[in-house]
Amino acid sequence: MIERIFLDIGWMSGIGVGLALLMVIAERWLSNYGEVQIDINGKRKIKVKGGNSLLSTLAESQIFMPSACGGRGTCGACKCKVVEGGGPILPTEKPMLSASEMAENVRLSCQVKVKNDIGIMIPETFFNIRRYEASIEEIIDYTYDIKGITFKFKEGNEIDFKAGQYMQLESKPYDKVKEKAVRAYSISSKPQLKDRLQLIIRLVPEGICSTWVHKHLKVGDSVSLTGPYGDFMLKDSDADTLFVAGGSGMAPIKSMLEYLQEVGTKRNMTFFFGARTTKDLYLNEEMAEFEKHFENFSYEPVLSHATPEENWTGKTGFIMPYFEEVIKDPPNTEAYLCGSPGMIAAVTKSLKEYGVPAENIRYDDFG
Ligand SMILES: Cc1cc2nc3c(=O)[nH]c(=O)nc-3n(C[C@H](O)[C@H](O)[C@H](O)COP(=O)(O)OP(=O)(O)OC[C@H]3O[C@@H](n4cnc5c(N)ncnc54)[C@H](O)[C@@H]3O)c2cc1C
Ligand code: FES
Repeated sequence: MIERIFLDIGWMSGIGVGLALLMVIAERWLSNYGEVQIDINGKRKIKVKGGNSLLSTLAESQIFMPSACGGRGTCGACKCKVVEGGGPILPTEKPMLSASEMAENVRLSCQVKVKNDIGIMIPETFFNIRRYEASIEEIIDYTYDIKGITFKFKEGNEIDFKAGQYMQLESKPYDKVKEKAVRAYSISSKPQLKDRLQLIIRLVPEGICSTWVHKHLKVGDSVSLTGPYGDFMLKDSDADTLFVAGGSGMAPIKSMLEYLQEVGTKRNMTFFFGARTTKDLYLNEEMAEFEKHFENFSYEPVLSHATPEENWTGKTGFIMPYFEEVIKDPPNTEAYLCGSPGMIAAVTKSLKEYGVPAENIRYDDFG
């Protein structure tokens, strides 16, 4: 009887192991798409190994697409036209695609799997995006939850970017986080500085990459970044200019102001910075220096939750009512907004009500 039970257990274990083995073989066989070809813009053909997402397959070939959410299908930054071989649109892509984009074969490259020969269209500017290895040169605590990090490129590498653009930083596994993550951060230093750059990073509670930066990154550590990405850039004009930012949204505005300081400008400029309390203000001395340097620049911090103990005598409440004081010539006013989606939506609505043309409002949404 006991022998019989052992025999049955043996058989069942054997069948289990056999099935598992079959599944592994099937998985390998099904996902082995071999070598396939990606035709880019009808001009350039690359041979790649099939089976992975279009986003990561291109990155393997040193072609980097914007991917602000790190491939989670939630930012829409990695959109490109797949003109051939992309298969049907997946349910994970639909929330990010409009009806007209779907009709024009726009896809999320982080969701499309490269299984066969495929044809895509991407902007030529993507070919300027590169991977940079860097070491951490300096970490400054700007506030209790915002740090400024300077990255020095290795092997004498240099970068060309426009003020307002962003990089994608790759975090490393730590504690219970087993995977690396990729997140977007605006460059806060001036483009004239080529061998290094600064990012300003706010700690997001439970956030994978920002926690790694705040709790684990040290001076001297080696890190990997790609970039530059994005089209949040200054127009070439002398229009009256409004900068509006909150929190780490200060980053690209700082880069733009440092750039203008180097090249000179005739713009009338006002920078409204929204914060909760005085504890959330930073770079105050740098802003005071800009006010001295530029003929027509004013820095206007606006606090939403200042307490009486802070003795704050500056602007309070919402930023929008203060626009009335500075928008003198709406059609000749440009606005550059940077921060949370909620702030950008509210400020954009208000600027349009003041008569600023929609095409003069540019923004970078950190959402
Ligand atoms: C173009 C652009 C430029 C940007 N520039 C800057 C900048 O200059 N400075 C800056 O600080 N930020 C910037 N950001 C934001 C930045 O890219 C990150 O989104 C931010 O740092 C949060 O990343 P994280 O990995 O720390 O958090 P994530 O891990 O992405 O988490 C974000 C939030 O989601 C929650 N979350 C995570 N996983 C789950 C889950 N499974 N279920 C439920 N909730 C979850 C977390 O608790 C957290 O609150 C920019 C974003 C964009 C798109
Ligand atoms: S990388 Fe964010 S949607 Fe694809």
